[in-house]
This record gives sequence, structure tokens and C-alpha cells, in this order.
Amino acid sequence: MATVVVGVTGGVAAFKAPIVVRECQRAGHDVYVAATRASLEFVGRSTWEGITSRPVAVEIAGEGRAEHVELARIADLIIVVPATANSLARLAAGFADDMVSLTVLASHAPVVVAPAMHSNMWLAPATQANVRTLRERGIHVIDPSSGALGSGDSGIGRLPDPEEIAHQALEVLSAYEQASHALAGRTVVVTAGGTREPIDPVRFLGNQSSGRQGLAIASAAARAGAAVRVIAANIESALLAGLPSGVQVTRVGNALQMREATVNQVADADALVMTAAVADFRPEAASQSKIKKDPTNEEAPTIRLVRNPDILAEIGHSKKRPPLVIGFAAETGTDEEILAYGADKATRKGADFICLNRVGESVGFGDVSNDIHILDANGHIVGRYVGSKDEVAAGLVGHMASFLDNLKR
Ligand code: C5P
Repeated sequence: MATVVVGVTGGVAAFKAPIVVRECQRAGHDVYVAATRASLEFVGRSTWEGITSRPVAVEIAGEGRAEHVELARIADLIIVVPATANSLARLAAGFADDMVSLTVLASHAPVVVAPAMHSNMWLAPATQANVRTLRERGIHVIDPSSGALGSGDSGIGRLPDPEEIAHQALEVLSAYEQASHALAGRTVVVTAGGTREPIDPVRFLGNQSSGRQGLAIASAAARAGAAVRVIAANIESALLAGLPSGVQVTRVGNALQMREATVNQVADADALVMTAAVADFRPEAASQSKIKKDPTNEEAPTIRLVRNPDILAEIGHSKKRPPLVIGFAAETGTDEEILAYGADKATRKGADFICLNRVGESVGFGDVSNDIHILDANGHIVGRYVGSKDEVAAGLVGHMASFLDNLKR
């Protein structure tokens, strides 16, 4: 039995929300209701209190509630039904001045949102942008259906059947519960960010990698129950602060430091995921002092580069490699070209899988933020994950879990 919080906002479709509550109760779950004040115009307190046998949470302070985040803490699943255009905007912006948006903001539970509104409001660019933001954050937004609307018009924006909303929401809950144990007992090392190879004390050769995809994978692996170690090359502190508690972070600067940290940390690990952009070359020797231009001489200095070790290939081919080694490859070119590069990389590096990521495309309205093909050691496509970095990370973690589970047998 799980604890489900149903958040009700102020639209005419609110009259269908009690059926969602009832369906969750029928499935054996304990249901609490949080309601915005505006929603009480549509469905009153006595209805909610009658069907849940407990007070409905409306006011943030008072009403005997020990703490305003109590519902957020006990929720295993939050269903916002109906979600008005206004409440979608508030959820996307992170408002917390009503019990519904506050509970969503403060909770780590999966969130399912069922919007209902007039077609013009649903199709408005602002609403579509808010929906995209919520989906990118991993919130499950159920598309409204088409038909008669509360205004008397007809079109898209109608709340789907409440039984169907409850069914989809409970499926999200069970997928989440399954995923939250998928890597229990495993140790996963993730390299992330981009190395900086010093030229002198103030200059370096670097790259654009932010580390976001690697951190999303580390977070997903931690949520799946793994002990996670991140080797972070030049990642902003604010991004690292978003990692789940318990994730161990080792900060490194350049490729040689990353090699040392990675070799040390994979010794007892089950999996290594190398998302970091490691510089292939470094200046042969970093100058001890800042390189100056000579005012009497127009010539520029020559910086001699030497090869960096290929950490992935070294670990991939080592006898002491973890049972699962995954590399990343960001490539430009046609579909055929990038698949050929990826296949070559998978075989050369001794990795079990290479995640192949097309880069350099312009991403337009409605497009997704990442599209990863997974190639096996023979260069065959064995999976594809499309969506936000969090969605791609969750897909990859599922793939890792089934690979490791199959090894056991
Ligand atoms: O050869 P390429 O740099 O495209 O390969 C990318 C993969 O190899 C990534 O997983 C990256 O982390 C890893 N790599 C490495 N050491 C290097 C260069 C890349 O481990 N010197």
C-alpha cells in the first residue's frame, strides 16, 4: 500500500477528481487530498473529507498540521488533477504558496499531472513551454483529450477519463518502485564534466562539457539504489549540489588526475560510466609562470601537445575491469557516419556499450533534448533512449540493471 496525494486545482473538471481518489483507494492505497482555495469553489471540503475520512489540506499554516511539508514527505505518488493552465505555470516556476504547488515542490515522489482547460489555453505557447519544462524535469504530464469543454466549445483540453488517469498514475508509481531497487547493492562510478589541460597557471585547453548528462546518470543510479561515486572534472558547484545525498564526489582537473581517480575507484565497482569529455592531448609541459607576449617580437609561442592516456580503453581492456564498462561518444555527421564511428569506438575501447549521442543539431520547438543510441561491443544498436537528460539517464540505468542481473545467472 502506498500513500497517494491527490492535488486538486480550480477548474470545472475538478468534479472528476473524486473518482481518481476512489480508484486509488480501490487499488488499496491510502489517499490524502491537497486542494487550492479556488478548487473548493468546485468541490467543497465536505466532499473530500467524506471520501478520505481526513481533513483536506488547503492552508499552508495552521489547521493542526505539524509541518507544511508533511504531505510532501509522506507521498509515494502525487497526482495533480485537474491541473489548470495557471497551476501548470506555477508548478513550472516553482511556486509554493498553495498546498498543491508546495507539495509538488517539496516532494521527491513521482508526480503525475492531468491538465484540463480550454483549447486556446492548452495550445498557448506559454502553456506548451510549461508542459515541456515539467516533462524535462521528469513529471509525467497526461495529454488532455478532445471533446466538449466546460465553456461549451469543443476541442482539445478535456480531462481524460478519471479511471484512465488513476490507471496511468498507478503505473508510473509501480515503474518508479521497480526502478528504485534496480541497482540495489551495486557500486557505480560515473565520470562527468570536461578535463582542462594546463598551458600555464591561468590558461588551459578545455571543452564545453557541462557534466549534466553524467550527473543525471549518477542521480538515476543513486535513485535506483546504487552506491555512486562521481569523478567530476570542472563541474559547477551548483550542479554538483543537486546530486542525491550519499553520492561521493571526487573533483579532478585534468586527464591525468581523472585517470588516477578512475583507476582507483573502479577497483571494487560493478560499473563504470565514462561520460566525461577527456582531452585527447595536453601540452607537453605546463609553463610554471604565465606565458607573456614579447613586445619586441611578433612571433607566437608554439605549444607542443602530447597524447593523454585513453582511460576508457585502458580500463576496458584491463583484466581488473568492472563487469560493466560504458563509454560515451558525441559525434557529428549523417546517421550512417555516426553509427560507423560509434561501432568503431565500441570495438576499439573494450567497452560493453557505447552511448552514441548526435551533437551539433539545432533543437527547435517541441524537440527533445537528448537522443542516445546504445551500441554493444560489436557495434550493434541494442537500445535507444530519447528525451530529457533525466529520461535518458533513467533508460540507461534500466539497461545497466538488466545487464548486471543477467551476468549473475
Ligand atoms: O575517443 P573519444 O574521445 O571520442 O571517446 C569518448 C569516450 O572515451 C568517452 O567515454 C570518454 O570519457 C572516453 N575517453 C577517455 N580518455 C580519453 C578520451 C576519451 O576515457 N583520453
